[in-house]
Amino acid sequence: MILVTGGAGFIGSNFVLDWLAQSDEKIVNLDKLTYAGNLQNLSSLSKDTRHIFVQGDIGNTQLVSQILVQYQPRAIINLAAESHVDRSIHGPEDFIQTNIVGTFHLLEAVRAYWDELEFIAKQNFRFLHVSTDEVYGSLTQNEPAFTEEHRYEPNSPYSASKASSDHLVRAYHHTYGLPMLTTNCSNNYGPFQFPEKLIPLMIVNALAGKSLPVYGDGQQIRDWLFVTDHCSAIRRVLEAGIVGETYNIGGWNEKPNIEIVQIICTLLEDSFPGSAFHKFITYVKDRPGHDRRYAINAMKIERELNWKPAETFETGIRKTIQWYLNNQQWIADIQTGAYRKWIEKNYPKLLS
Ligand code: NAD
Ligand code: TYD
Repeated sequence: MILVTGGAGFIGSNFVLDWLAQSDEKIVNLDKLTYAGNLQNLSSLSKDTRHIFVQGDIGNTQLVSQILVQYQPRAIINLAAESHVDRSIHGPEDFIQTNIVGTFHLLEAVRAYWDELEFIAKQNFRFLHVSTDEVYGSLTQNEPAFTEEHRYEPNSPYSASKASSDHLVRAYHHTYGLPMLTTNCSNNYGPFQFPEKLIPLMIVNALAGKSLPVYGDGQQIRDWLFVTDHCSAIRRVLEAGIVGETYNIGGWNEKPNIEIVQIICTLLEDSFPGSAFHKFITYVKDRPGHDRRYAINAMKIERELNWKPAETFETGIRKTIQWYLNNQQWIADIQTGAYRKWIEKNYPKLLS
């Protein structure tokens, strides 16, 4: 049994689905179901006894302790977080509460549980903390990509809160000996991503004939990784990562934002002959404190753990666009808020 936090979010739901497609080891999934949590993503598992869903906050030490005692997980994958930079600029408080205070409370519950484990279980236990490349700050055009040794220079409330959680995880290993693993991943894209992030927002807006807002000059660079490659990297780090180490995960896919938006427009135009999506591209006011470039050097995980991404950007973006085209009801349910009602209907016990 493993415990996944944030397993109803974008990466979390892909991780849960991928895990159960490859293993019969059960998952207990603890998710608060914020706006970003969508149990519809896991509807294919609604009758699968290998998936146990618990609605709750990682910051609720009592609840987490109960879950740990009841299910005795051998590992925890911590994906729960507030994750959107723009939201962190408009309202940082939730980011501080979940990403810093929530992680602290989670760690306290895990420390108490781990302390009581028998020798072998204690040795084998792992806490894998999923973090981001944004903790390293911004690169100029010519600087080398982030390695694990790059200093932390977070620039947004989001990245500062993630950096804080990384430091707590590090300290719990160093001070208490908890068997921690940390991963710092680049920008993900793929199925089930909430349409507030660049790629799904552009697909969803284009399909609705709405403008495609490109911040500033559109020349900011991100390093894109297809979400199932991130999931396979997490599984690999869990399986073979050295306790106390951090691993950068990336897809060697640096692209300026404007190029991403243009690729999406071109692929949509191929899907709908005679259509014109490029005309919706609109340059808008830049994001405050906008990081110019992120780039991941993924040599360590490739060399030491023999992990490599399976998708190129070209294959991944096609799969992603096709997924959104095939799942227009999912998009509509998010836009109307119906995905929240789906939970009430299908998981009434959660709300009683
Ligand atoms: P997401 O916003 O889609 O999902 C986050 C999930 O966490 C949601 O289901 C939400 O309900 C849940 N959650 C939020 N607060 C919680 C709390 N207090 N207790 C329990 N659950 C809570 O995010 P995502 O894109 O899936 O990202 C998952 C993790 O990966 C985050 O830690 C994020 O920082 C990290 N990450 C994301 C990316 C990316 O490109 N999306 C890249 C690198 C790292
Ligand atoms: P985003 O998906 O929010 O991820 P992050 O900020 O964590 O990298 O944004 C990716 C890039 O796209 C970032 O440089 C901001 C830019 N962007 C836009 O230009 N327009 C948009 O509407 C959004 C959401 C993002």
